[in-house]
Amino acid sequence: MEKTFLMVKPDGVQRNLIGEIVSRFEKKGFRLVGAKLMSISQELAEQHYGEHKERPFFGELVDFITSGPVFAMVWEGENVIATSRQMMGATNPKDAAAATIRGDFAVNVGKNVIHGSDSPESAEREIGLFFKQEELVEYPKLISQWVY
Ligand code: TYD
Ligand code: MG
Repeated sequence: MEKTFLMVKPDGVQRNLIGEIVSRFEKKGFRLVGAKLMSISQELAEQHYGEHKERPFFGELVDFITSGPVFAMVWEGENVIATSRQMMGATNPKDAAAATIRGDFAVNVGKNVIHGSDSPESAEREIGLFFKQEELVEYPKLISQWVY
């Protein structure tokens, strides 16, 4: 089953949006297979956002993501990578459609509430950066047949 890495950023945690965000993915029908409230070290932030290290906003991005606790999650389900990106909305909240997470809860491109992997390769890389294999659960087959 496809998996992705999603993370409520420090602004979302401090604005008490963890429950709202988890609820949206639960109601959609995806399954939570790992989660933790954690602080991100400078090293982990630089690795996680490595693809952006030459961009002018890199320093601010790393400062922001290390500025307070984040809620890191792994979700699974059919097409979860692409569908969760749609549910998040555009990177810049001013362009994000209503009924998306960024469209509903954010106004600023830096403080845009949620991170989500954008491809199978980034999902695998990011899950590996944030979670050990033993921190992820597997659901019994019987239950997954009942749910879907
Ligand atoms: P990016 O990976 O392009 O967006 P997304 O989070 O939608 O995958 O960028 C990572 C984060 O960097 C983005 O969520 C917010 C921040 N950012 C800026 O602060 N300014 C910018 O111009 C861009 C493109 C991103
Ligand atoms: Mg990205």
